[in-house]
Amino acid sequence: MTASQAKTIKKIALLTSGGDAPGMNAAIRSTTLYALHHGIEVIGFRHGYNGLINNEFIRLDEPSVREIVGRGGTILKSARCEEFKTCEGMKQAAKNLSAQNIDALIVIGGDGSFAGLVKFKQFYSGQTIGIPGTIDNDIDGTDHTIGFATAVDTAVNAIDKIRDTADAFERIFVVEVMGRKSGFLALNVGVACAAEHIITFENFSNPGIELQHIATKVERIKKHRGKCSHLIVSAENLYPGGANKLASDLADYAAIECIPCILGYIQRGGDPVAKDRILATHMGAHAIQELLAGNSDIMIGIEGQFCKPIALSESVEHHKGVNQNLLDIQESLQDLR
Ligand code: F6P
Repeated sequence: MTASQAKTIKKIALLTSGGDAPGMNAAIRSTTLYALHHGIEVIGFRHGYNGLINNEFIRLDEPSVREIVGRGGTILKSARCEEFKTCEGMKQAAKNLSAQNIDALIVIGGDGSFAGLVKFKQFYSGQTIGIPGTIDNDIDGTDHTIGFATAVDTAVNAIDKIRDTADAFERIFVVEVMGRKSGFLALNVGVACAAEHIITFENFSNPGIELQHIATKVERIKKHRGKCSHLIVSAENLYPGGANKLASDLADYAAIECIPCILGYIQRGGDPVAKDRILATHMGAHAIQELLAGNSDIMIGIEGQFCKPIALSESVEHHKGVNQNLLDIQESLQDLR
């Protein structure tokens, strides 16, 4: 992290990148309003880093961020950008920022977007700040990312409904949740839904052991409760072939009839819950405070109730795993004797 003295900043740029997350709009709003409050002009590049390369931007003022605090998605649009991984793309982006006299660039996104921002420093001399926005919550250096709380609630609401029908028919379901390469959604959703079994990156070893584990558990719970509903919550990109293959493998392995259900993109949409709106508002304004203090190459993290700066390079390099103790507790709660 580079820290210098208080800076005079006249104009900043903002963009949202990677998978959108509920609360990104609230972050755009607070960053913009807090900057305007300090006499700083704000522009927003559209379509993530693509907009930076193609010089596609809008001026952000008070009317443009009015009434967006509770809206899902992102008014700036989002995208993944292959061109930004090339030197040519980054050079063009830096040229566009310089041509507009942009003193600082703020990126609201996940770890892939931050990795791009770290590399971009080779080409851009202005200040850079990342605001963690992803439903995956997989960014090291922050307790929570913007969008995670909403995605958990959305998945829990959906799975509660699945539980109703599972109970009515005394069926077994395997529900696959998002999270890319991280188990935060699976663990938190599974705990909140009292899932009989949770599969995350932290407790999965291989398909054979997993099948054995599930079969034993299904049998044990059936013995204890009689025929009943049984929910397995699994992280995506984990069991080879996903929920569909797991369901068919369970049928082959132990004649267990299991219905696969992939929640998918429903988890990325919807109005942000209050927790995400507050987090986004706090982080957005804090990003401006850090810029004014002369800081750069940082991400805004939250620890307890306080925002804090984290070196962007560190947040990109370190892996954040789920709370193993919570996983163990959930496992114990299903260990019926
Ligand atoms: O990173 C957010 C996320 O929704 C992941 O949970 C998921 O694996 C991925 O994005 C999907 O990416 P895309 O929208 O590019 O298909």
